[in-house]
Amino acid sequence: MVFWFNSDRERGRVFAEAFARELPDLPLVMDISEHDPDEILYILTWTAPADLHRFRNLKVVFSIGAGVDQFKSEFLPREVMLVRMVEDGIIRMMQEYVTLAVLALHRKLKAYVGQQADAVWLSLPVRQAAQQRVGILGLGTLAGAVIERLKPFGFPLAAWSRSERQVKGVDCYHGPDGLTPFLARTDILVCLLPLTQETEGLLDAGLFETLPAGAALVHVGRGAQLDHDALIAALDAGHLSGAIIDVTEPEPLPPERGFWRHPKIILTPHIASVTQPETAARAVIDNIKRHRDGLDPIGLVDRERGY
Ligand code: NDP
Ligand code: OXD
Repeated sequence: MVFWFNSDRERGRVFAEAFARELPDLPLVMDISEHDPDEILYILTWTAPADLHRFRNLKVVFSIGAGVDQFKSEFLPREVMLVRMVEDGIIRMMQEYVTLAVLALHRKLKAYVGQQADAVWLSLPVRQAAQQRVGILGLGTLAGAVIERLKPFGFPLAAWSRSERQVKGVDCYHGPDGLTPFLARTDILVCLLPLTQETEGLLDAGLFETLPAGAALVHVGRGAQLDHDALIAALDAGHLSGAIIDVTEPEPLPPERGFWRHPKIILTPHIASVTQPETAARAVIDNIKRHRDGLDPIGLVDRERGY
C-alpha cells in the first residue's frame, strides 16, 4: 500500500524524508506508473485526478491547500474522505498577509504610494485603531488565527460564521440574519470564507452598500466570491475607500481587467498563504496516524456543506 504525492517534486522531497522517518511502512511515491492502482491508499493533490475510480482501495484524499472548492465532489466517491490542509505554515502566512493588508488600509498606504509618485508631501487624516472596526467573514482555522494576531492592535473585532460561535474579545454574528448587522459595523472587511454554493458571489453591490461609507475590503477567500464590477463601482463612487485583493476569477487575472491599474486597489497573485512542506508533512503524517487509529482526520470536509 502506498501514499501518492501528486504535486510538485520540490515539496515532495521534503514529504518523502518525513514519511521515511515517521511512517517507514507507508512508501511515498510521486510517480505511480509502476504501481497497481489498488496499491494507492492515500493521495495528496490539488485537484482530484479524473480517473479516481481506478483506485479501488483509496481511503483519503488530502488537499494540498486549505481550500477544497477545486475538487469536483461528484468525481469523489462518497466513501473516500476529503481532507483540507490545516498546518502551521499556511496559518502563519495568512496571519502575516491579513495583518499587512489591514494595517495598509488603516494607514492609507496606497494613497501615500500615489503621493510619492507625484512628489506630494501631505499628511492625510488618520483614525485611531479603536475607531477602525475590523470584521472577518468566516471564523474558521485561518480567520481565528488572524483574529488573534489583530487583537493587540486594538481594532474592535467582529466575525461572521455559518453556525453560532463565541470568541473572547470578538463580536460574533452568524447566519443570513447576522450578516447585515455585522456589515453595518465593519470599516475594514476581510473575506476568509471557503467557496461554496452559499458564498459564491457574496461580495456584491448589495453587500458593499451595507458597509459604512469609507469602508475597505481585504479579499483572500476565493475569486468567485467577488463581483469585480460591483467593487470597482463602489470604489469609483467613493462609497468604498480601498481594497486589497489576493484572489480573482479567473486566475491569472487577464491584463486588460480593471483591478490591475485601479488607484484604490492593491492586487497580489494569490500568494497570501502557501502550504509549507515541513509543517504540512507533519500535519498529513499526524492525520494518517489518526486515520489508522480510527479517528477522523483534522480538517475532514463535510461534503454536504462543501468545506
Ligand atoms: P474553515 O473551514 O476552517 O473555516 C471556514 C469558515 O467559514 C467557518 O467559520 C464557517 O462557518 C464559515 N462559513 C462557511 N460558509 C459560510 C456561510 N455560508 N455563511 C457564513 N459563514 C460561513 O476554512 P479555513 O479558515 O481553513 O480557510 C478559509 C478559506 O481561505 C479557504 O477555503 C480558502 O478559500 C481561503 N484560503 C486562501 C488562501 C490564499 O492564499 N488566498 C490560502 C488558504 C486559504 P462555521 O464556523 O459556522 O462552520
Ligand atoms: C489554499 C490556497 O487553499 O492557497 O491553500 O488558496
